[in-house]
Amino acid sequence: MSLPARFDVLCTGLHLATLDGEGWGVVRDGAIGVVGDTIAWVGAERDRPRDVAATWSRDFGGAWATPGLVDCHTHLVYAGHRAGEFERRLRGATYAEIAREGGGILSTVRATRAADAGALAEASRPRLAAIAAEGATTVEIKSGYGLEREAELKQLAVARSLGRELGVDVRTTLLAAHAVPPEFAGRPDAWIDAVCADIVPAAARSGLADAVDAFCDTIGFTRDETRRVFEAARAHGLPVKLHAEQLSDQDGAALAAEYGALSADHLEWLSPRGIEAMAGAGTVAVLLPGAYYALRETRLPPIDALRARGVPMAVATDCNPGSSPTTSPLLMLNMACTLFRLTPPEALRGMTHVAARALGLADRGRLRAGLRADVAVYAIDEPAELAWRFGGNPCLGALRAGVPHFGSGQ
Ligand code: NIG
Ligand code: FE
Repeated sequence: MSLPARFDVLCTGLHLATLDGEGWGVVRDGAIGVVGDTIAWVGAERDRPRDVAATWSRDFGGAWATPGLVDCHTHLVYAGHRAGEFERRLRGATYAEIAREGGGILSTVRATRAADAGALAEASRPRLAAIAAEGATTVEIKSGYGLEREAELKQLAVARSLGRELGVDVRTTLLAAHAVPPEFAGRPDAWIDAVCADIVPAAARSGLADAVDAFCDTIGFTRDETRRVFEAARAHGLPVKLHAEQLSDQDGAALAAEYGALSADHLEWLSPRGIEAMAGAGTVAVLLPGAYYALRETRLPPIDALRARGVPMAVATDCNPGSSPTTSPLLMLNMACTLFRLTPPEALRGMTHVAARALGLADRGRLRAGLRADVAVYAIDEPAELAWRFGGNPCLGALRAGVPHFGSGQ
């Protein structure tokens, strides 16, 4: 890349975990120069071109920079909470039982439908802000708590507007096939008809969805129903992803792979067949340790087999009021290592460039000239600290598309 006459932003006094090449890709005593929304120069301070001045510059005094975190699976736009359901689960009820009684996802649907866009934004803003405050620069947000056309579009629109407001790159996913809404109780097929004939087309027309997702499981939708949703997405040019093999093996991951899915997510019940299909299609495995933890699952996703077959593994918060009420991507790095036995660099890759790939984004997730200038800065002594600690937040701020967000309010 040719050098610019001037950097818009220059960050010095940083050790870099570039994630470029093997392992952390460490550059000690490094610097990053940005032009517009792009990294124009990155490397060791001693190699920095001295004749390029900067409009905004900061010396971070030995902090660490990583690629901005990418949280590639959240349901953070919702109203209400599910603390009562949590108490019931503590007394022995299961997630699936509560769902079958019309609680679970459907109780959040009632609260989310009742909130207007302003109230929904107000409830959701602190969650996106908290995720961003730990260094996330790209966040995926799903619908799936509206379960009627206008309420689904309302969720997606609120997600996009919160992204603009907070300066976070929000990617939206239509998840109308999340549960059967009360109006269609006992008629899942009729609901899937409506999703395919009305809601997917409306989401595509409005430009409010970047992808389409579904929940393929015993308390979600069958493989055949999911296939119909994927056909509709394909007909409208939208890529797909899938909540697959979370509570049971429905062979959903293989179906997702058949449709060239960007990702299959959860995967505790993933079979060898599903692994092969994902490996063949290049579908990313999105691991969600928060849901595994909160639902006290005991069956681990087949991490070793995924690794052995070269299936890329992403890590995300799954921020949602039912199975993963967290807003901490850093805690998920810890849980990915502690519960799922990822290595710390694997976990960070899983929340940067692999997560970006799960969103179809190839322009971010490493510190490399020419990539988007999404950079998180942490007050740590070495990068493994990000996964070692649980609780607390060492993030000093971030560049988001080249824009500095440091100090109060970030
Ligand atoms: O990713 N499994 C389905 N969807 C969410 C949970 C949604 C909810 O309980 O509200 C998940 O775990
Ligand atoms: Fe989810």
